Amino acid sequence: MPERENCRLVLVLFPLQGHINPMLQLATILNSRGFPITIAHPQFNSPDPSNYPNFTFLPIPDGLSKGSFAAKDFHSTMLAIHRNCQEPLRQFIQQTLEQKDPKDQVACIIYDAVMHFAQKVASQLNLPSINVRTSAAASMLAFAAFPRANEQGYVTFTDSLIQDETHELQSLKLRDLLITMGENPSDTILELRAATTSATRNSSAIIVNTIHFLEEEILPKIQEYFPEPIFAIGPFHKLAPSSSSSLLKEDTGCTSWLDKQASRSVLYVSLGSVASMNEEQLLETAMGLAMSERPFLWVVRPGSVSCAEWLELLPKEFQEIIGQRGCIVKWAPQKEVLAHGAVGGFWTHCGWNSTLESICEGVPMLCWPVFGDQGLDAKYISHKWKIGLELEGKLERGKIAGAIRRLMVEEEGEVIRQKALAFKERAEQSLGTGGSTNSSLDELVELILSFQP
Ligand code: UDX
Repeated sequence: MPERENCRLVLVLFPLQGHINPMLQLATILNSRGFPITIAHPQFNSPDPSNYPNFTFLPIPDGLSKGSFAAKDFHSTMLAIHRNCQEPLRQFIQQTLEQKDPKDQVACIIYDAVMHFAQKVASQLNLPSINVRTSAAASMLAFAAFPRANEQGYVTFTDSLIQDETHELQSLKLRDLLITMGENPSDTILELRAATTSATRNSSAIIVNTIHFLEEEILPKIQEYFPEPIFAIGPFHKLAPSSSSSLLKEDTGCTSWLDKQASRSVLYVSLGSVASMNEEQLLETAMGLAMSERPFLWVVRPGSVSCAEWLELLPKEFQEIIGQRGCIVKWAPQKEVLAHGAVGGFWTHCGWNSTLESICEGVPMLCWPVFGDQGLDAKYISHKWKIGLELEGKLERGKIAGAIRRLMVEEEGEVIRQKALAFKERAEQSLGTGGSTNSSLDELVELILSFQP
Protein backbone atom coordinates (compact mmCIF):
# COMPACT_ATOMS: atom_id res chain seq x y z
CA MET A 1 0.00 0.00 0.00
CA PRO A 2 1.41 3.49 -0.83
CA GLU A 3 2.31 5.62 2.18
CA ARG A 4 -0.40 7.92 3.45
CA GLU A 5 0.76 11.52 3.51
CA ASN A 6 0.39 13.65 6.62
CA CYS A 7 -0.15 10.62 8.79
CA ARG A 8 3.15 9.64 10.38
CA LEU A 9 2.71 7.67 13.59
CA VAL A 10 5.25 7.89 16.41
CA LEU A 11 5.27 4.69 18.48
CA VAL A 12 6.91 4.91 21.92
CA LEU A 13 8.43 1.61 23.08
CA PHE A 14 9.12 0.31 26.58
CA PRO A 15 12.53 -1.40 26.42
CA LEU A 16 11.69 -4.90 27.58
CA GLN A 17 11.42 -7.89 25.23
CA GLY A 18 7.81 -8.62 26.20
CA HIS A 19 6.87 -5.04 25.25
CA ILE A 20 9.24 -4.48 22.30
CA ASN A 21 7.83 -7.49 20.42
CA PRO A 22 4.15 -6.45 20.44
CA MET A 23 4.91 -2.77 19.78
CA LEU A 24 7.05 -3.55 16.73
CA GLN A 25 4.37 -5.96 15.55
CA LEU A 26 1.76 -3.21 15.92
CA ALA A 27 4.02 -0.80 14.01
CA THR A 28 4.31 -3.39 11.22
CA ILE A 29 0.53 -3.82 11.11
CA LEU A 30 -0.07 -0.06 10.87
CA ASN A 31 2.71 0.35 8.31
CA SER A 32 1.05 -2.32 6.16
CA ARG A 33 -2.06 -0.07 6.23
CA GLY A 34 0.03 2.75 4.73
CA PHE A 35 1.08 4.75 7.80
CA PRO A 36 4.71 5.94 7.90
CA ILE A 37 6.28 4.91 11.22
CA THR A 38 8.76 6.45 13.65
CA ILE A 39 9.86 4.26 16.55
CA ALA A 40 10.90 6.27 19.62
CA HIS A 41 12.71 4.09 22.14
CA PRO A 42 15.03 4.45 25.14
CA GLN A 43 18.66 3.74 24.19
CA PHE A 44 18.71 0.83 26.62
CA ASN A 45 17.79 -2.47 24.88
CA SER A 46 17.54 -0.73 21.49
CA PRO A 47 15.82 -2.76 18.78
CA ASP A 48 17.85 -3.49 15.65
CA PRO A 49 16.78 -0.94 13.00
CA SER A 50 18.18 -3.10 10.18
CA ASN A 51 15.26 -5.52 10.70
CA TYR A 52 12.82 -2.68 9.95
CA PRO A 53 14.13 -0.74 6.95
CA ASN A 54 10.76 1.03 6.45
CA PHE A 55 10.81 2.63 9.88
CA THR A 56 12.62 5.69 11.23
CA PHE A 57 14.20 5.03 14.65
CA LEU A 58 14.53 7.70 17.32
CA PRO A 59 16.74 6.64 20.26
CA ILE A 60 15.96 8.59 23.44
CA PRO A 61 18.77 9.18 25.98
CA ASP A 62 17.63 7.37 29.15
CA GLY A 63 20.55 7.44 31.59
CA LEU A 64 20.32 3.64 32.05
CA SER A 65 23.02 1.02 31.74
CA LYS A 66 22.78 -2.52 30.36
CA GLY A 67 21.59 -5.01 32.98
CA SER A 68 19.53 -2.40 34.81
CA PHE A 69 16.38 -4.45 34.47
CA ALA A 70 15.67 -7.19 36.93
CA ALA A 71 12.32 -8.10 38.39
CA LYS A 72 13.48 -6.84 41.78
CA ASP A 73 14.35 -3.29 40.70
CA PHE A 74 11.90 -3.23 37.83
CA HIS A 75 9.76 -0.41 39.18
CA SER A 76 12.61 1.88 40.17
CA THR A 77 14.05 1.42 36.67
CA MET A 78 10.68 2.36 35.23
CA LEU A 79 10.63 5.48 37.38
CA ALA A 80 14.09 6.38 36.05
CA ILE A 81 12.87 6.00 32.46
CA HIS A 82 9.94 8.27 33.17
CA ARG A 83 12.17 10.83 34.83
CA ASN A 84 14.78 10.84 32.07
CA CYS A 85 12.87 10.34 28.84
CA GLN A 86 9.94 12.74 28.86
CA GLU A 87 11.77 15.96 27.93
CA PRO A 88 14.04 14.38 25.26
CA LEU A 89 10.96 12.73 23.71
CA ARG A 90 9.14 16.07 23.62
CA GLN A 91 12.14 17.79 22.03
CA PHE A 92 12.63 15.04 19.45
CA ILE A 93 8.99 15.09 18.36
CA GLN A 94 8.89 18.87 18.33
CA GLN A 95 11.95 18.92 16.05
CA THR A 96 10.33 16.30 13.83
CA LEU A 97 7.21 18.44 13.64
CA GLU A 98 9.27 21.53 12.77
CA GLN A 99 11.75 19.99 10.35
CA LYS A 100 9.77 17.46 8.39
CA ASP A 101 8.23 17.97 5.03
CA PRO A 102 4.71 19.36 5.58
CA LYS A 103 3.45 16.28 3.76
CA ASP A 104 5.04 14.11 6.47
CA GLN A 105 3.36 15.45 9.60
CA VAL A 106 2.85 13.44 12.78
CA ALA A 107 -0.80 12.39 13.15
CA CYS A 108 -0.54 10.89 16.61
CA ILE A 109 1.62 9.34 19.32
CA ILE A 110 0.95 5.68 20.05
CA TYR A 111 2.59 4.65 23.31
CA ASP A 112 3.07 1.54 25.40
CA ALA A 113 0.80 2.11 28.43
CA VAL A 114 3.83 1.76 30.70
CA MET A 115 5.42 4.82 29.01
CA HIS A 116 2.62 7.01 30.31
CA PHE A 117 4.67 10.21 30.10
CA ALA A 118 4.23 10.03 26.30
CA GLN A 119 0.59 11.01 26.80
CA LYS A 120 1.78 14.22 28.53
CA VAL A 121 4.15 14.89 25.64
CA ALA A 122 1.28 14.45 23.19
CA SER A 123 -0.88 16.86 25.09
CA GLN A 124 1.98 19.44 25.31
CA LEU A 125 2.33 19.21 21.52
CA ASN A 126 -1.41 19.21 20.87
CA LEU A 127 -1.27 15.78 19.30
CA PRO A 128 -3.77 12.96 19.85
CA SER A 129 -2.43 9.91 21.66
CA ILE A 130 -3.34 6.24 21.68
CA ASN A 131 -2.57 4.01 24.63
CA VAL A 132 -1.44 0.43 23.90
CA ARG A 133 -1.90 -2.46 26.33
CA THR A 134 0.55 -5.24 25.64
CA SER A 135 -1.05 -7.31 28.41
CA ALA A 136 -4.56 -8.70 28.86
CA ALA A 137 -7.37 -6.14 28.82
CA ALA A 138 -8.34 -7.28 32.31
CA SER A 139 -5.02 -5.98 33.64
CA MET A 140 -6.33 -2.45 32.95
CA LEU A 141 -9.08 -3.01 35.43
CA ALA A 142 -6.70 -4.50 37.93
CA PHE A 143 -4.41 -1.44 37.55
CA ALA A 144 -7.32 0.93 37.99
CA ALA A 145 -8.92 -0.98 40.81
CA PHE A 146 -6.39 -0.10 43.44
CA PRO A 147 -8.14 2.43 45.59
CA ARG A 148 -6.64 5.91 45.62
CA ALA A 149 -8.12 9.20 46.73
CA ASN A 150 -10.35 10.68 44.07
CA GLU A 151 -8.97 14.15 44.58
CA GLN A 152 -5.62 12.90 43.26
CA GLY A 153 -7.31 12.40 39.93
CA TYR A 154 -6.93 8.65 39.83
CA VAL A 155 -9.62 6.21 38.79
CA THR A 156 -11.01 4.32 41.73
CA PHE A 157 -13.38 1.52 42.38
CA THR A 158 -15.44 1.85 45.48
CA ASP A 159 -14.54 -0.43 48.37
CA SER A 160 -18.00 -1.96 48.18
CA LEU A 161 -17.37 -3.10 44.60
CA ILE A 162 -14.08 -4.67 45.58
CA GLN A 163 -15.67 -6.47 48.49
CA ASP A 164 -18.79 -7.55 46.65
CA GLU A 165 -18.33 -11.29 46.43
CA THR A 166 -21.21 -11.61 43.99
CA HIS A 167 -19.70 -9.27 41.44
CA GLU A 168 -17.81 -11.49 39.05
CA LEU A 169 -15.56 -10.72 36.11
CA GLN A 170 -15.58 -13.73 33.83
CA SER A 171 -15.89 -16.01 36.86
CA LEU A 172 -12.78 -14.43 38.36
CA LYS A 173 -13.86 -12.46 41.38
CA LEU A 174 -12.53 -8.93 41.36
CA ARG A 175 -10.81 -9.59 44.65
CA ASP A 176 -8.93 -12.55 43.11
CA LEU A 177 -7.95 -10.37 40.17
CA LEU A 178 -6.44 -7.84 42.52
CA ILE A 179 -4.58 -10.50 44.45
CA THR A 180 -3.02 -11.90 41.28
CA MET A 181 -1.57 -8.46 40.58
CA GLY A 182 0.13 -8.27 44.00
CA GLU A 183 -1.65 -8.21 47.33
CA ASN A 184 0.29 -5.42 49.00
CA PRO A 185 1.76 -3.26 46.27
CA SER A 186 4.32 -0.67 47.30
CA ASP A 187 3.63 3.05 46.99
CA THR A 188 5.88 3.15 43.92
CA ILE A 189 3.81 0.48 42.18
CA LEU A 190 0.57 2.17 43.15
CA GLU A 191 1.88 5.44 41.81
CA LEU A 192 2.93 3.87 38.50
CA ARG A 193 -0.40 2.11 38.12
CA ALA A 194 -2.31 5.27 38.94
CA ALA A 195 -0.26 7.34 36.47
CA THR A 196 -0.78 4.68 33.79
CA THR A 197 -4.52 4.67 34.43
CA SER A 198 -4.71 8.44 34.39
CA ALA A 199 -2.81 8.64 31.08
CA THR A 200 -5.10 5.97 29.65
CA ARG A 201 -8.15 8.05 30.47
CA ASN A 202 -6.63 11.08 28.78
CA SER A 203 -5.83 9.33 25.51
CA SER A 204 -8.00 9.36 22.40
CA ALA A 205 -8.20 5.58 22.13
CA ILE A 206 -6.91 2.32 23.58
CA ILE A 207 -5.42 -0.55 21.58
CA VAL A 208 -5.27 -3.92 23.32
CA ASN A 209 -3.29 -6.93 22.14
CA THR A 210 -6.13 -9.28 22.92
CA ILE A 211 -8.71 -11.25 20.97
CA HIS A 212 -12.31 -10.25 21.57
CA PHE A 213 -13.58 -13.74 22.37
CA LEU A 214 -10.97 -14.21 25.08
CA GLU A 215 -12.19 -11.24 27.09
CA GLU A 216 -15.65 -10.58 25.73
CA GLU A 217 -17.25 -10.30 29.17
CA ILE A 218 -14.70 -7.99 30.67
CA LEU A 219 -14.25 -5.60 27.73
CA PRO A 220 -17.66 -3.88 28.23
CA LYS A 221 -16.84 -3.61 31.95
CA ILE A 222 -13.58 -1.86 31.06
CA GLN A 223 -15.41 0.45 28.69
CA GLU A 224 -17.44 1.69 31.66
CA TYR A 225 -14.28 3.02 33.27
CA PHE A 226 -12.44 4.22 30.18
CA PRO A 227 -14.71 6.30 27.95
CA GLU A 228 -12.54 6.35 24.81
CA PRO A 229 -12.89 3.64 22.13
CA ILE A 230 -11.11 0.35 22.81
CA PHE A 231 -9.74 -1.65 19.88
CA ALA A 232 -9.06 -5.34 20.56
CA ILE A 233 -6.86 -6.09 17.56
CA GLY A 234 -4.75 -8.99 18.78
CA PRO A 235 -2.99 -11.28 18.38
CA PHE A 236 -0.53 -8.79 16.86
CA HIS A 237 2.05 -11.46 16.07
CA LYS A 238 -0.31 -13.24 13.68
CA LEU A 239 -1.10 -10.04 11.76
CA ALA A 240 2.51 -8.89 11.45
CA PRO A 241 4.93 -10.72 9.16
CA SER A 242 7.73 -12.09 11.31
CA SER A 243 10.68 -9.72 11.44
CA SER A 244 12.79 -10.68 14.44
CA SER A 245 12.77 -8.26 17.36
CA SER A 246 14.72 -10.59 19.67
CA LEU A 247 17.36 -8.89 21.80
CA LEU A 248 19.06 -12.27 22.35
CA LYS A 249 20.29 -14.52 19.57
CA GLU A 250 17.80 -17.29 18.82
CA ASP A 251 19.23 -20.81 18.87
CA THR A 252 17.59 -22.26 15.76
CA GLY A 253 19.34 -25.62 16.30
CA CYS A 254 16.54 -26.62 18.67
CA THR A 255 14.08 -26.90 15.78
CA SER A 256 16.28 -29.62 14.18
CA TRP A 257 16.19 -31.38 17.56
CA LEU A 258 12.38 -31.03 17.57
CA ASP A 259 12.25 -32.54 14.06
CA LYS A 260 13.52 -35.82 15.56
CA GLN A 261 10.86 -36.01 18.30
CA ALA A 262 7.48 -37.72 18.13
CA SER A 263 4.36 -35.68 17.45
CA ARG A 264 3.10 -33.70 20.47
CA SER A 265 5.58 -35.43 22.77
CA VAL A 266 7.77 -32.49 23.86
CA LEU A 267 7.23 -30.13 26.77
CA TYR A 268 8.58 -26.67 25.93
CA VAL A 269 9.75 -24.80 29.04
CA SER A 270 10.40 -21.05 29.04
CA LEU A 271 9.96 -18.24 31.51
CA GLY A 272 10.19 -15.33 29.09
CA SER A 273 12.69 -12.51 29.20
CA VAL A 274 12.64 -11.32 32.83
CA ALA A 275 11.55 -14.02 35.30
CA SER A 276 14.27 -15.89 37.15
CA MET A 277 14.75 -18.91 39.45
CA ASN A 278 16.87 -19.61 42.50
CA GLU A 279 19.14 -22.64 42.77
CA GLU A 280 16.57 -24.79 44.55
CA GLN A 281 13.88 -24.05 41.96
CA LEU A 282 16.32 -24.88 39.16
CA LEU A 283 17.16 -28.24 40.72
CA GLU A 284 13.52 -29.12 41.41
CA THR A 285 12.61 -28.18 37.84
CA ALA A 286 15.42 -30.32 36.42
CA MET A 287 14.53 -33.31 38.58
CA GLY A 288 10.80 -32.84 37.87
CA LEU A 289 11.53 -32.89 34.13
CA ALA A 290 13.63 -36.02 34.63
CA MET A 291 10.91 -37.78 36.65
CA SER A 292 8.18 -36.87 34.13
CA GLU A 293 9.89 -39.10 31.54
CA ARG A 294 8.78 -36.72 28.77
CA PRO A 295 11.14 -35.14 26.23
CA PHE A 296 11.70 -31.45 26.93
CA LEU A 297 13.07 -28.32 25.30
CA TRP A 298 14.12 -25.93 28.08
CA VAL A 299 15.12 -22.29 27.65
CA VAL A 300 17.52 -21.24 30.41
CA ARG A 301 18.48 -17.62 29.80
CA PRO A 302 22.03 -16.82 30.91
CA GLY A 303 21.74 -14.92 34.20
CA SER A 304 18.18 -16.14 34.88
CA VAL A 305 19.33 -18.44 37.69
CA SER A 306 20.54 -16.54 40.74
CA CYS A 307 24.25 -17.04 41.52
CA ALA A 308 24.87 -18.96 38.26
CA GLU A 309 26.15 -18.03 34.84
CA TRP A 310 24.17 -20.72 33.07
CA LEU A 311 23.89 -24.50 33.68
CA GLU A 312 26.76 -25.15 36.06
CA LEU A 313 24.43 -25.86 39.02
CA LEU A 314 22.69 -28.77 37.28
CA PRO A 315 23.69 -32.18 38.71
CA LYS A 316 25.75 -34.65 36.60
CA GLU A 317 22.94 -37.22 36.42
CA PHE A 318 20.76 -34.61 34.77
CA GLN A 319 23.34 -34.12 31.99
CA GLU A 320 22.69 -37.76 31.07
CA ILE A 321 18.93 -37.15 30.91
CA ILE A 322 19.56 -34.24 28.56
CA GLY A 323 21.54 -36.56 26.29
CA GLN A 324 18.64 -39.02 26.22
CA ARG A 325 15.63 -36.78 25.77
CA GLY A 326 16.31 -33.13 26.43
CA CYS A 327 17.55 -30.00 24.76
CA ILE A 328 18.55 -26.83 26.62
CA VAL A 329 19.09 -23.50 24.85
CA LYS A 330 19.77 -19.94 25.92
CA TRP A 331 17.00 -18.43 23.79
CA ALA A 332 14.62 -20.14 21.35
CA PRO A 333 12.70 -19.01 18.27
CA GLN A 334 9.59 -19.34 20.42
CA LYS A 335 6.85 -18.80 17.87
CA GLU A 336 8.41 -21.42 15.59
CA VAL A 337 8.84 -23.80 18.50
CA LEU A 338 5.20 -23.50 19.56
CA ALA A 339 4.08 -24.08 15.96
CA HIS A 340 6.20 -27.25 15.69
CA GLY A 341 4.20 -30.47 15.59
CA ALA A 342 6.47 -32.14 18.17
CA VAL A 343 5.50 -29.70 20.91
CA GLY A 344 2.63 -30.98 23.06
CA GLY A 345 2.76 -28.65 26.06
CA PHE A 346 4.21 -25.34 27.25
CA TRP A 347 5.44 -24.78 30.79
CA THR A 348 5.16 -21.01 30.88
CA HIS A 349 5.47 -18.10 33.30
CA CYS A 350 2.29 -16.80 31.57
CA GLY A 351 3.68 -13.56 30.14
CA TRP A 352 0.91 -12.25 27.91
CA ASN A 353 2.87 -12.70 24.66
CA SER A 354 3.67 -16.30 25.52
CA THR A 355 0.03 -16.86 26.43
CA LEU A 356 -1.24 -15.52 23.08
CA GLU A 357 1.47 -17.34 21.11
CA SER A 358 0.51 -20.62 22.76
CA ILE A 359 -3.23 -20.06 22.22
CA CYS A 360 -2.63 -19.38 18.51
CA GLU A 361 -0.88 -22.73 18.11
CA GLY A 362 -3.36 -24.69 20.25
CA VAL A 363 -0.67 -25.71 22.75
CA PRO A 364 -1.97 -26.47 26.27
CA MET A 365 -0.09 -24.75 29.10
CA LEU A 366 1.39 -25.55 32.46
CA CYS A 367 1.25 -22.24 34.31
CA TRP A 368 3.88 -21.06 36.75
CA PRO A 369 3.34 -17.31 37.10
CA VAL A 370 6.19 -15.32 38.62
CA PHE A 371 5.18 -11.65 38.90
CA GLY A 372 2.91 -8.85 37.69
CA ASP A 373 0.16 -9.69 35.21
CA GLN A 374 1.32 -13.32 34.97
CA GLY A 375 -0.87 -14.39 37.93
CA LEU A 376 -3.92 -12.98 36.20
CA ASP A 377 -3.04 -14.74 32.93
CA ALA A 378 -2.53 -18.03 34.78
CA LYS A 379 -5.99 -17.75 36.33
CA TYR A 380 -7.47 -17.08 32.91
CA ILE A 381 -5.67 -20.08 31.37
CA SER A 382 -6.35 -22.62 34.09
CA HIS A 383 -9.60 -21.49 35.76
CA LYS A 384 -11.54 -19.58 33.13
CA TRP A 385 -10.50 -20.88 29.71
CA LYS A 386 -9.40 -24.32 30.94
CA ILE A 387 -6.63 -24.63 28.37
CA GLY A 388 -3.97 -25.37 30.95
CA LEU A 389 -3.15 -26.34 34.51
CA GLU A 390 -1.59 -24.20 37.21
CA LEU A 391 1.44 -25.33 39.20
CA GLU A 392 0.60 -23.79 42.56
CA GLY A 393 2.81 -23.28 45.58
CA LYS A 394 6.45 -24.23 45.95
CA LEU A 395 8.20 -25.95 43.05
CA GLU A 396 8.78 -29.56 44.07
CA ARG A 397 10.00 -32.35 41.78
CA GLY A 398 7.21 -34.87 42.45
CA LYS A 399 4.54 -32.23 42.01
CA ILE A 400 6.15 -30.99 38.77
CA ALA A 401 6.42 -34.49 37.29
CA GLY A 402 2.80 -35.20 38.26
CA ALA A 403 1.56 -31.99 36.64
CA ILE A 404 3.53 -32.66 33.43
CA ARG A 405 2.05 -36.13 33.17
CA ARG A 406 -1.47 -34.84 33.86
CA LEU A 407 -1.05 -32.38 30.99
CA MET A 408 0.88 -34.53 28.51
CA VAL A 409 -0.15 -38.12 29.18
CA GLU A 410 -3.40 -38.46 31.08
CA GLU A 411 -7.03 -38.19 29.95
CA GLU A 412 -7.39 -34.85 31.74
CA GLY A 413 -4.65 -33.46 29.47
CA GLU A 414 -6.45 -34.68 26.36
CA VAL A 415 -9.59 -32.75 27.35
CA ILE A 416 -7.45 -29.63 27.88
CA ARG A 417 -5.74 -30.16 24.50
CA GLN A 418 -9.08 -30.34 22.69
CA LYS A 419 -10.12 -27.08 24.35
CA ALA A 420 -6.81 -25.47 23.37
CA LEU A 421 -7.29 -26.57 19.75
CA ALA A 422 -10.78 -25.04 19.75
CA PHE A 423 -9.24 -21.77 21.00
CA LYS A 424 -6.72 -21.89 18.16
CA GLU A 425 -9.59 -22.16 15.68
CA ARG A 426 -11.45 -19.22 17.23
CA ALA A 427 -8.26 -17.14 17.15
CA GLU A 428 -7.92 -17.90 13.42
CA GLN A 429 -11.54 -16.90 12.82
CA SER A 430 -10.98 -13.54 14.49
CA LEU A 431 -8.27 -12.79 11.93
CA GLY A 432 -10.40 -13.67 8.89
CA THR A 433 -12.73 -11.39 6.94
CA GLY A 434 -15.53 -10.25 9.24
CA GLY A 435 -13.61 -11.53 12.28
CA SER A 436 -13.47 -9.31 15.37
CA THR A 437 -9.80 -8.37 15.00
CA ASN A 438 -10.11 -7.56 11.34
CA SER A 439 -13.18 -5.35 11.85
CA SER A 440 -11.65 -3.55 14.84
CA LEU A 441 -8.49 -2.86 12.88
CA ASP A 442 -10.51 -1.26 10.07
CA GLU A 443 -12.23 0.97 12.63
CA LEU A 444 -8.89 1.91 14.19
CA VAL A 445 -7.49 2.91 10.79
CA GLU A 446 -10.54 5.14 10.21
CA LEU A 447 -10.03 6.81 13.58
CA ILE A 448 -6.34 7.51 12.93
CA LEU A 449 -7.16 8.95 9.50
CA SER A 450 -9.57 11.34 11.22
CA PHE A 451 -6.58 12.72 13.21
CA GLN A 452 -4.81 13.96 10.08
CA PRO A 453 -3.37 17.42 10.70
C1 UDX B 1 6.96 -9.10 30.21
C2 UDX B 1 6.13 -9.54 31.42
O1 UDX B 1 6.85 -10.41 32.23
C3 UDX B 1 4.84 -10.12 30.96
O2 UDX B 1 4.12 -10.63 32.06
C4 UDX B 1 4.06 -9.04 30.28
O3 UDX B 1 2.80 -9.52 29.88
C5 UDX B 1 4.88 -8.56 29.08
O4 UDX B 1 6.15 -8.15 29.51
P1 UDX B 1 8.11 -11.45 29.41
O5 UDX B 1 8.24 -11.86 30.81
O6 UDX B 1 9.32 -11.40 28.62
O7 UDX B 1 7.30 -10.08 29.26
O8 UDX B 1 7.07 -12.53 28.79
P2 UDX B 1 6.21 -12.58 27.48
O9 UDX B 1 5.12 -11.58 27.50
O10 UDX B 1 5.80 -13.97 27.33
O11 UDX B 1 7.21 -12.17 26.29
C6 UDX B 1 8.34 -12.89 25.97
C7 UDX B 1 8.58 -12.80 24.48
O12 UDX B 1 9.87 -13.31 24.22
C8 UDX B 1 7.59 -13.61 23.66
O13 UDX B 1 7.20 -12.89 22.51
C9 UDX B 1 8.38 -14.85 23.26
O14 UDX B 1 8.03 -15.37 22.00
C10 UDX B 1 9.80 -14.33 23.24
N1 UDX B 1 10.75 -15.41 23.56
C11 UDX B 1 10.78 -15.95 24.81
C12 UDX B 1 11.57 -15.86 22.57
O15 UDX B 1 11.53 -15.39 21.43
N2 UDX B 1 12.46 -16.84 22.88
C13 UDX B 1 12.56 -17.39 24.11
O16 UDX B 1 13.40 -18.28 24.29
C14 UDX B 1 11.70 -16.94 25.11
